[in-house]
Amino acid sequence: MTCVESFDLLATTVLLLNQSGEVVEANAAAEAMFGRSRRHLIGQPAAFLFDRDTALEQSIRQACSGEVDDCRQFAMTRRGAEAVEVAVTSISLTQQPWSALIEIKDIEQRVLVDRSIRMVDEIETQHELLRNLAHEVKNPLGGLRGAAQLLESELPDPALQEYTRVIISEADRLQALVDRLAAPQRMPVQWQSVNIHEVCERVCALVRAEFREVAILRDYDASMPEFRADPARLMQALLNIVRNAAQIMTGSDPTRSPHITIKTRVARQVLLRHKQHRMAVVVTVIDNGPGVPISLQDRIFHPLVTGREGGTGLGLSLAQDFIQQHGGVIEFDSQPGHTEFRLLLPLEPL
Ligand SMILES: Nc1ncnc2c1ncn2[C@@H]1O[C@H](COP(=O)(O)OP(=O)(O)OP(=O)(O)O)[C@@H](O)[C@H]1O
Ligand SMILES: [Mg+2]
Repeated sequence: MTCVESFDLLATTVLLLNQSGEVVEANAAAEAMFGRSRRHLIGQPAAFLFDRDTALEQSIRQACSGEVDDCRQFAMTRRGAEAVEVAVTSISLTQQPWSALIEIKDIEQRVLVDRSIRMVDEIETQHELLRNLAHEVKNPLGGLRGAAQLLESELPDPALQEYTRVIISEADRLQALVDRLAAPQRMPVQWQSVNIHEVCERVCALVRAEFREVAILRDYDASMPEFRADPARLMQALLNIVRNAAQIMTGSDPTRSPHITIKTRVARQVLLRHKQHRMAVVVTVIDNGPGVPISLQDRIFHPLVTGREGGTGLGLSLAQDFIQQHGGVIEFDSQPGHTEFRLLLPLEPL
């Protein structure tokens, strides 16, 4: 089967463009998407298939000339008389007979974005509730622990200390949980100039030290500029994601050599939480582990949701919180053998 024939098997619409931005190949999904036959699509400037949109025209041009690697944005197109909103990704191709590839996804993508916004609001409410609860639990917990210590020193029989030890260690465990729940609220965001690759390198070093059997590969975008962010929060968010991947892969399938890739890219014209940004930082963490269990997929960003023995289920919810404080969002796609978590952050000029 040729490469072009295999495009026909894809459910997503794919157009292949020449250097002038004209369609040279279109797959079967493209015929359905635009309601036109392949013969009518080939030779058309790709930008003409959408409602006039200068940002889109620019990114198609830039992808064809190789100025940008990839760019994702929303656009409007027409299927007969029907106006359809689509998500368009223009990808520059190198060492291929075509200059660029355009991938178009139907409105579903938008629904996903809306859903993630709704989820973000929902999680924010839950977090608020948990933080208040954490606050309420903190003082009595301190009292309990103090009283257990006093009791321990007064106990006539040292064998009874076994019980006070349990009270104290369980109080400490709860205290740690309560501290993690309250954490994001405590410190103000420390905005400064951040080099994302330094953050990635620190996370790599930490995870390598902890999980020796997991290979960590890096695929960095050398053109990534520094941007304004809170480096401690970014690092914690990324660390939580990379640690999850490493944890899930250790001991899961001994025939598969576990590896994690950390990829950075600059994306252009990205819609993040209702706001269109000229540029965004995308940090993608890819693992070849078993994937997020289907039963958890709708809920993993919610606090206290865990699929791991001994997990508190706070890692991803904190990570999502931290990235949201930057106006960004964390998304994921997962199937057995390939799980991707993407941190999307607005790239604010310094
Ligand atoms: N890369 C991944 N592959 C498969 N499952 C994952 C991955 N990342 C997260 N998960 C699932 O999502 C769940 C929630 O993750 P989260 O980090 O929020 O909590 P946790 O790791 O269980 O506990 P904590 O991070 O608080 O110690 C995990 O328990 C795991 O089941
Ligand atoms: Mg975790």
